[in-house]
Amino acid sequence: MTQVIEIGIIGSGGIAAAHARAYKKMPDVKIVAVADVIPGKAKEFIQNLELKDAKPFDDHQELLHLDLDGVSICTPNVAHHLTTVDSLSAGKHVLVEKPMAVTLQQAIEMVEASKKADRMLSVGFQPRYDPNMQAVKELVQSGQLGNVYYVQAGGGRRRGMPGGTFINKELAGAGAMADIGCYSLDLALNTLGYPKPLTVSAYTSNHFGTNPLYHQEADRFDVEDFGTAFIRLEGGIVLNFKISWAMHMDSLGPTLFLGTDAGLKLTPAGSGPWSGVWDGGIGEISMFHDIKGHHVETEIPVKQHQLDIFYEKVRDFVVSIKESRSAPIPGEQIVINQAIIDGILRSSDEGREVSIEIPNFN
Ligand SMILES: NC(=O)c1ccc[n+]([C@@H]2O[C@H](COP(=O)([O-])OP(=O)(O)OC[C@H]3O[C@@H](n4cnc5c(N)ncnc54)[C@H](O)[C@@H]3O)[C@@H](O)[C@H]2O)c1
Repeated sequence: MTQVIEIGIIGSGGIAAAHARAYKKMPDVKIVAVADVIPGKAKEFIQNLELKDAKPFDDHQELLHLDLDGVSICTPNVAHHLTTVDSLSAGKHVLVEKPMAVTLQQAIEMVEASKKADRMLSVGFQPRYDPNMQAVKELVQSGQLGNVYYVQAGGGRRRGMPGGTFINKELAGAGAMADIGCYSLDLALNTLGYPKPLTVSAYTSNHFGTNPLYHQEADRFDVEDFGTAFIRLEGGIVLNFKISWAMHMDSLGPTLFLGTDAGLKLTPAGSGPWSGVWDGGIGEISMFHDIKGHHVETEIPVKQHQLDIFYEKVRDFVVSIKESRSAPIPGEQIVINQAIIDGILRSSDEGREVSIEIPNFN
């Protein structure tokens, strides 16, 4: 008989619906519980999404009393830490939405809880399932570029500022850095094999979010809408990283990997207010190299695919539970991503370069 995986969802807002729709497509998965702090919201969610096997709860602790295999954490960033640690401690595997946490310390505690409970902690970066992202990683890891010494990553939305919990530092941790910067960092770092960051020197600003001309919630906007950072990584690699939610420019340029034998360029997919290689939206991939003074440019065809990468991320979590595999996108790795965001905010506040310390998890 097929093993049925029983899932709970904590937080029943926008992204929770995407999780629920993905789980509903899987015949070997049952969503058995949904929790939301707003009384009645989980119940409404269950009705709207027609989750016939699910019970509603107004407190995630009550949901965790059930005998669940895994939990999707779909709360605003500020609640990722508490709900993840509680879920792991209750013996559930966790798929937490991005960004991992609000602070580096929280991310560290989440990994520690996962180790202590011997339960999987996976972070929801769906662009990892884009075959183009995988092709870029394979190319760089195959050594065709030689030693990569410089990476330029991050992209910009021209006009793409969210509101609500995303623009409050206490609730979100950071603005554009946490919301879309974490994807760009993951693209760069995952391609390189997640080298350790050593130092960061950063600048952030919020000229648009705090201006009522550009944001209707300007009076409560206290995060960055633009940031740039120079990050030294182990292995003699530097990462020039930039991100924006809003700017007077069409794009922040391509993503570049410069190696000793060749260079790789990824251009943003599309154009207009949402363009930018920050979430895996790759328009073109080209490789540049010189052979005895002759410049050669090779177009690498962008893989056209029908994959629903969000579904793939949720499915990989389920299959990892079924096959007792380790986390597909391990919290232990994504702590590095969170440490860089933390370093960027510290460096920007202090106006100088700062060191990045990552604990060894054993
Ligand atoms: N992977 C993606 O493509 C993607 C896209 C959008 C958002 N996100 C991430 O998903 C998360 C949620 O974003 P959203 O847009 O769905 O937000 P949302 O505000 O629409 O929904 C969050 C829900 O969580 C509930 N909640 C808050 N604290 C809770 C707690 N302690 N226990 C239970 N429920 C709680 C809120 O009441 C709300 O209903 C954020 O971290 C965001 O960064 C990911």
